Amino acid sequence: MTIVALPPPYPVNPQVHIESGRADALDPGTFQPVVSNAFAHARYMAAVLGGTDEALDDSQVEAAFAKAAIDPKLCQPELFAGTRRPDGSWLLQGLKAWLNVCAAQKDDAPSSLVQFQERFGRFDAEALLKSGEWSAELHPRSRAKLVGRRTFRNMARSVSVAQTLAPSCEVLETEAIVRTPSGHLQFLVYDAEGKRVDHAFFPTPRGDSISRPSPQSCLGCHYTFDTRRFNVVIPSYAALNLRGSSPGHPLPPAGSSDPFDACLRPGETIVRDLP
Ligand code: HEC
Repeated sequence: MTIVALPPPYPVNPQVHIESGRADALDPGTFQPVVSNAFAHARYMAAVLGGTDEALDDSQVEAAFAKAAIDPKLCQPELFAGTRRPDGSWLLQGLKAWLNVCAAQKDDAPSSLVQFQERFGRFDAEALLKSGEWSAELHPRSRAKLVGRRTFRNMARSVSVAQTLAPSCEVLETEAIVRTPSGHLQFLVYDAEGKRVDHAFFPTPRGDSISRPSPQSCLGCHYTFDTRRFNVVIPSYAALNLRGSSPGHPLPPAGSSDPFDACLRPGETIVRDLP
């Protein structure tokens, strides 16, 4: 599948976390979706493979799977084989494993940041100052990462990029979200050298960080609670209970500036996600 960017409007409002207007993001009744989790992942997987999910029914998902399964080049068919139960329902763990290990081999996404920028344009400060095509934000304390994070957004291309920063302001990893024609988001991660990888780092309450598989970890936050569509660019902090601190990542003392403020560069807006 070729990733094509969509025209605006590009949902960047946290409220897109809930698709149907009447759903309350904090109502526990909304949390366990009407849509089965396994079906939602299967639909996502079919979209990654086939590029569409509009009105995709059970048999179409199955057809996309079958096509993938008979492809001799398919990564690890045994992983895929493990996704169906005898009763025909899909096994969530199998789907997640397949997505983490295999989707990257089939999705035709850029395999390096150099290629990413060839396809979607340069997002760094220098280029953005010239073109104004990208907007850039510095989040001294990202709710997701609990450290400094720099985000770039290109509305026209429906692409977002997020760099996780070290205290030295060096880029530790680059994550990207590309909105595909199916409406599903494609999640990409690149390491410090700019090579595509299948994992990203997330903070633990102890204060260190752990590696989590991609896109599985991304799918755990960037989705709508009611219909479980993986199309949420900026998840709702409140609904996901992202507090912006943990015992291992305490907030800076009141009145003091955040150490990551020093990473601010010309052309960037500083965004504080603090409670
Ligand atoms: C714990 C929940 C969580 C997980 C897991 C998660 N994200 Fe996010 N993501 C967020 C939140 C919250 C934001 C809003 C900015 C912030 O707080 O850092 C965000 C923002 C982003 C942005 C910037 C969007 C914009 O336009 O500003 C990108 C890109 C992104 N995430 C990519 C990913 C990728 C790729 C993964 C998987 C490797 C992932 N995220 C996993 C919660 C999460």
